[in-house]
Amino acid sequence: MPSHYDDIERLVRSTFDLWDVVRVGFSWRKYYLNHTYRVQNLALSLAADLDGDPDSLRHAAILHDITKRYDGAIVKSPEGKNVVDEEGFWLNETIAPDRHNWVTQLYDRMGLHGQIHHVSGATMTEHVLREFGYPENFIRPVSKIVRGHLKGNVPPEVHDERYRETEVRILYDADTIDPNVGLTAFYRNIQISAGNALRRGEEIHLPTYVQNLPRWVDMKDSFRDHMLTERGREVCDVRQARNRRVMQQLQAELDQPAVNEKYGLLGALAHLFTNPEDPSLHEHADELRDTWLPERERLLTHETRLDRDLAGEALERSREFVQMLHAEISGQP
Ligand SMILES: [Fe+2]
Ligand SMILES: [Fe+2]
Repeated sequence: MPSHYDDIERLVRSTFDLWDVVRVGFSWRKYYLNHTYRVQNLALSLAADLDGDPDSLRHAAILHDITKRYDGAIVKSPEGKNVVDEEGFWLNETIAPDRHNWVTQLYDRMGLHGQIHHVSGATMTEHVLREFGYPENFIRPVSKIVRGHLKGNVPPEVHDERYRETEVRILYDADTIDPNVGLTAFYRNIQISAGNALRRGEEIHLPTYVQNLPRWVDMKDSFRDHMLTERGREVCDVRQARNRRVMQQLQAELDQPAVNEKYGLLGALAHLFTNPEDPSLHEHADELRDTWLPERERLLTHETRLDRDLAGEALERSREFVQMLHAEISGQP
């Protein structure tokens, strides 16, 4: 089977770029592609552990949110409640793209507006793969994986049929973990808070934000019960434990703010709060590794004002944090 994966990846990237709107709900412009790559990385890592088919997962992951940029605000009833469909999914207002390509033209022609994005995404996946000449026995399973990346309230027999294949379960778990569990979810929380503050014209008070983090981590424990694979549950456990440790370190750092705001996790966190106008986890993580850390290494060699030992320990925590952030982005548990 000839692979047109690179063409498909280019098509997904250029489709996401057809919208200029930056912040929508709990998402932002660069979130869609960043999240898509992280889900792909995590899905492929789960596939290696669970003997899933990497080729169908690679294609399904890159395509899974291809119609997601149409999603706007949640539709509200006259009473102000979220409107849901028969499976319990929230309905979204449609945001029209600012420019068009054949994907958006086809979306209009097929009247996919109003469908939840995993359903319209599965239909679009079929058309994209067919356009690039993939055989039907590849198209059908890949489309089914995309269709299964959200889970509604359905009878057990429908659930069993939809989530029978390992690959469907893997993409569901990877897509659920990324925004909810781990440092990837921590960054999402940071930038949702930063976006809210930006909208209200307020400043983030970092100590208060840090004090509230343990409650946020506790709320994420429940996601392990939603997992469809045992490996997914293990990833949840590893990531929750990691986040708890980072949150504890952050809280402890508040006792020595001067040194830790300069060299420690408090400083790295302050950096992750920058650029709320157009954030990107992958850009922020690269900046921390390529600019922020080297700059602190340099500052430490000339440090005279602050305790050198404390500064060295703080910088070591930051190095470890940046390394863990990159590891999660690359799909490690
Ligand atoms: Fe999605
Ligand atoms: Fe997704």
